[in-house]
Amino acid sequence: MDEKRILDYLDKTGGRRTLERLFRIVFSHVLDSLGKKGSYEVSLSLLSPAEQRELNKAYRNIDRETDVLTFAYEETCQEAIPVTDLGTITICPEVAKRQAKEFSHPYERELAFLFIHGLLHIFGYDHQTPEESERMFALQNRLLNTLPFDFYTNRRKLVRKLLEAQQKAIVPYSHFRVGAVVVTKDGKYIEGFNIENSSYPATCCAERVALYAAYAMGYRKEDIAALGCITDSKKVGTCCGVCRQVMSELMELYAPVYIYSGDCSQHLDTTVEGLLPHPFTKEDMDR
Ligand code: THU
Repeated sequence: MDEKRILDYLDKTGGRRTLERLFRIVFSHVLDSLGKKGSYEVSLSLLSPAEQRELNKAYRNIDRETDVLTFAYEETCQEAIPVTDLGTITICPEVAKRQAKEFSHPYERELAFLFIHGLLHIFGYDHQTPEESERMFALQNRLLNTLPFDFYTNRRKLVRKLLEAQQKAIVPYSHFRVGAVVVTKDGKYIEGFNIENSSYPATCCAERVALYAAYAMGYRKEDIAALGCITDSKKVGTCCGVCRQVMSELMELYAPVYIYSGDCSQHLDTTVEGLLPHPFTKEDMDR
């Protein structure tokens, strides 16, 4: 059966129109991850601080603006194709902006976080007791981290850095230049390029040079937002098996990987897991 996901979106603050796409991705991701089958509809309104405050006062008797409010409804219409109306969530972008700054993470990430938080409330999660909080916040983080949306990478900057890195390749044997860049969540673009050796197997690929450089600087897998790479090839998709294995251990499996053809006219947007679906891990050595 066709599963519909309807986001009834209203932005009363005149924010960027691209945000709607993010909220749609979040809605589908939460439903899929929670294993919700069937069709669902939710209303999402972006409100000014004054409007959000008014609602907060009217429904919770708290006279101040707040980041997110949830009005759970859960009613399934009895039509040929039933759609469950989940209710309404209101978010105040101005509060979200403030909180994003406070936590020094991207504004879109904060918006996604608030929408996930509201949706989880609708599905019965809460944070009244420590046990409840632990359960809700763990799920919230997992949903946020696995969201197929990259909050950190500026693709134009990535391409620029990739081309710069590629120029530095040390390739006296193959003359095949590869550039790689690790994007960190604190905004660094760490370059790598292939470094060849007369003992051929001692050659190190660009992807691994970039990843090892990031690790040498102190970054760890949870700090890495994405990896990009570019080769001299006319097509895309040339990360070698060894690099895929290393990525699977030094990056999160859900981290995005962007691979560009030599002239940047084509690119493949995938993830570490997309490149290596069944990685060999430490757990595979359990006896
Ligand atoms: N190479 C990379 O840098 N990354 C890959 O994923 C594939 C191969 C380099 C290694 C060597 O210097 C040249 O490309 C030819 O294999």
